[in-house]
Amino acid sequence: MRRFFTRSPRPACLRPATLADAPALADIHAGSFAHPWSIPSFEAMLADRAVHGHVAETTGPIGFILSRIAADEAEILSVAVHPKSRGAGIGARLVAANLDALARARVSHVFLEVESNNQAALAVYRAAGFAMIGTRPGYYRYSDGTRHDAVMMRLAMAGRMITAPLADA
Ligand SMILES: CC(C)(COP(=O)(O)OP(=O)(O)OC[C@H]1O[C@@H](n2cnc3c(N)ncnc32)[C@H](O)[C@@H]1OP(=O)(O)O)[C@@H](O)C(=O)NCCC(=O)NCCS
Repeated sequence: MRRFFTRSPRPACLRPATLADAPALADIHAGSFAHPWSIPSFEAMLADRAVHGHVAETTGPIGFILSRIAADEAEILSVAVHPKSRGAGIGARLVAANLDALARARVSHVFLEVESNNQAALAVYRAAGFAMIGTRPGYYRYSDGTRHDAVMMRLAMAGRMITAPLADA
């Protein structure tokens, strides 16, 4: 009798993003958003000392998060996980790793904006402690004429514990 063996997916490692990640991050972004950011845009962000980036990778990058610090506040610029790797906790780990870096940089509050119908992102952010602070009606516009509200969220970092060492899952 022929037997089939299945392998569990390779665990993802998390590490700080580098300039060399720009093409891979642009690729993941293009597969995740209607308005893709270019490789030069990623290069510019990754070269910015105020930007903190983390990458999840197996044999190559499968997800990333970028945030930017301004004074004692920060903004999550983008987070995305390759469609084939979603639902395995990688988005939550990326957010936790990035928040740890922001906590070490003594950031007091973190802000972000997310589309109101993006249930996956809302779940990840709420689980990380973000709370809704307002909406922008019809902020996201699409070529087919549809519009969606933006939800603004904020996280107070006071007393936040460092939760996620950069290690294997
Ligand atoms: C948002 C995104 C990064 C989440 O990454 P992920 O690796 O799939 O998320 P996780 O597996 O870590 O899930 C974290 C939580 O969200 C929940 N979640 C994930 N996908 C969900 C969905 N489609 N609907 C509802 N909840 C969802 C999970 O159940 C989990 O909650 P739990 O810990 O209580 O079980 C990913 O869906 C993505 O790349 N989306 C496209 C890009 C995007 O929208 N980015 C955010 C822009 S603001």
